[in-house]
Amino acid sequence: MTEPLLKLNAVCKSFGTTDVLSDVSLEVRAGEVLCLLGDNGAGKSTLIKILSGFHEPSSGTMEAGGKKVCFKSPRDASSHGIATVHQFGGTFPLMSIGRSFFVGAEPLKGLWPLRRFDRKLANSIAVREMQALGITRITDGDRLVGGLSGGERQALAIGRAVHFGANVLILDEPTAALGVKEAAHVLRLIMQARQKGIAVVLVTHNVTHAMTVGDHFAVLIRGALAADFHKGERTREEITDLMAGGEAMAELEAEIEAYQLAHHGHTPEPAELERLTHDPSGP
Ligand SMILES: Nc1ncnc2c1ncn2[C@@H]1O[C@H](COP(=O)(O)OP(=O)(O)OP(=O)(O)O)[C@@H](O)[C@H]1O
Ligand SMILES: [Mg+2]
Repeated sequence: MTEPLLKLNAVCKSFGTTDVLSDVSLEVRAGEVLCLLGDNGAGKSTLIKILSGFHEPSSGTMEAGGKKVCFKSPRDASSHGIATVHQFGGTFPLMSIGRSFFVGAEPLKGLWPLRRFDRKLANSIAVREMQALGITRITDGDRLVGGLSGGERQALAIGRAVHFGANVLILDEPTAALGVKEAAHVLRLIMQARQKGIAVVLVTHNVTHAMTVGDHFAVLIRGALAADFHKGERTREEITDLMAGGEAMAELEAEIEAYQLAHHGHTPEPAELERLTHDPSGP
């Protein structure tokens, strides 16, 4: 196996008195898709924000390329080849495709003091990179990002990461708001990135998506790493169970079974189910 590109050692993160991550150790390797799974509020986005330099760990250490690192800003992380597409947008709706592709790294033309943004060059590169990812309907780099579909925006962000030489690509729920076709396209982009030897960290609630592209899986339950395994080591049911918080799901199933036993095999109505889950004494 190759050296991990990124490594977390016993990372903890608290916001004030709230412990969000506790003792998380994890390795991210080149050419591997690591799926980060877990229920709402489990700490997935927080973990990703640590990997991408938005938050610093409260304790624990991080290594990039075998060396200890301490990211003070997203810029620090990106200078280590880590590109992140965040859960809520991360693109700029009122910017053109070309502008948004090069934000922070604008190509310039002309001589000082008349140096200015090279719109034509930026547009042509942005459009070319999106086309290379299969988004052939986009031909005009002046179009506003706000007018792109969810899948096209993901392609823009992924194309940008690949263009700027990212070796770790982090995607926080990239398929959550997408239709089936677009989600499939984004999954294909992930496979393409992986084939280029990029390490992909993918957060998703969708077990099918995770199982389709994942090589390595890490499950967070209330901020702790509940499972860390590779493709083929767990069944789909086990993964679903872990993602739903494991024991919470098992509890609910046990309650439903008890209800069915007591009610001639009838499944509880939604209202009844609601009462069951709130009343620990049961029926
Ligand atoms: N800046 C913050 N200050 C205080 N608490 C925070 C902060 N950021 C996150 N949290 C809390 O940390 C917990 C984990 O949040 P996080 O966003 O990492 O969850 P998540 O696993 O990404 O959930 P989801 O699947 O809903 O996106 C939540 O309870 C959240 O309220
Ligand atoms: Mg999140």
